Amino acid sequence: METIDCLTLWNGVRIPTLGIGTSFVGGYSHEAMVHALKHCNVRHIDTARKYHNEHLVAMAILESGVVRDKLFITSKAWPSDYGYESTKTAFRESLQQTQVDYFDLYLLHFPKSPDGTSDKKLISESWKALEELYAQGLCKSIGVSNFEISDIENLKETWTVIPMVNQIEVHVFYYPKELIEYCQGLGMQIVAYCPLAKGKVMAHHVIINMADKLSRKCSQIASRWVIQHGLAAIPKSTKCSRVEENSKVFDFTLSDEDMETLNQIHVTDGQRVTDPRRVRFDQLAL
Ligand SMILES: NC(=O)c1ccc[n+]([C@@H]2O[C@H](COP(=O)([O-])OP(=O)(O)OC[C@H]3O[C@@H](n4cnc5c(N)ncnc54)[C@H](OP(=O)(O)O)[C@@H]3O)[C@@H](O)[C@H]2O)c1
Repeated sequence: METIDCLTLWNGVRIPTLGIGTSFVGGYSHEAMVHALKHCNVRHIDTARKYHNEHLVAMAILESGVVRDKLFITSKAWPSDYGYESTKTAFRESLQQTQVDYFDLYLLHFPKSPDGTSDKKLISESWKALEELYAQGLCKSIGVSNFEISDIENLKETWTVIPMVNQIEVHVFYYPKELIEYCQGLGMQIVAYCPLAKGKVMAHHVIINMADKLSRKCSQIASRWVIQHGLAAIPKSTKCSRVEENSKVFDFTLSDEDMETLNQIHVTDGQRVTDPRRVRFDQLAL
């Protein structure tokens, strides 16, 4: 990954700062995934068991010709797989579907039990399974997703390995500062999902004006803002031209003044584009 811009997790593993999302919301495009790998130097892929596309990701990797050790692949266990044994089973099935023999990062997707409550014991058993998979080298790093401070505090009671990552929603309309700083204080890296706010950044006047001023695209401004906050970003597009556009975020920087202007958006126009707390977990399309 010599030519790829990376962040370093607390265990020394390097994670490419820019990845590509694959969630099934809005569809999955084989063509766009191959294009990202083959022509845009994207090396970080975010998939999940819940997305039911790990086998499609495997096909795209094969077609791209990019070799395994040049890639950073994340997958995630869904709450219906929680529990010590079933998390391990889910992990093995994900490995098989993705046609790899290790994941670079494996996450607990959501801090809930299958019935939608927060069963501390069940989640801590799943975490124990991840710690063992990590010790065996079957995943190079482990982490959580959608965990709030209270969820991390619960996990902390029994963990022996601190999660390397918390993958959460972050974009110009939503910056959960307290959670981000809490995670960073523990040495956890934040990976920002929905960095384009599901496309909403393209319609905001401040971002449009800045994109015009800098001769960039709104999507690039939005991801660059996330990256300059020290976070990794995993935008998704089903279109090759947009994947290409989204990948060009390392050849410019936002000034302190531009960052500050963008920082004001979530203060004045703050909104999440997903709200995991308001709906039952099994109805979510995360
Ligand atoms: N851990 C979790 O719980 C969780 C939750 C949500 C997401 N994620 C991960 O994060 C990834 C990204 O999140 P997301 O897909 O929800 O949202 P996103 O990346 O913020 O936005 C994707 C949307 O933006 C559009 N788009 C992308 N690039 C564009 C461009 N250059 N110009 C105009 N429109 C553009 C896409 O449409 P087109 O496809 O038509 O281009 C799509 O509708 C997911 O795919 C998934 O891997 C994780």
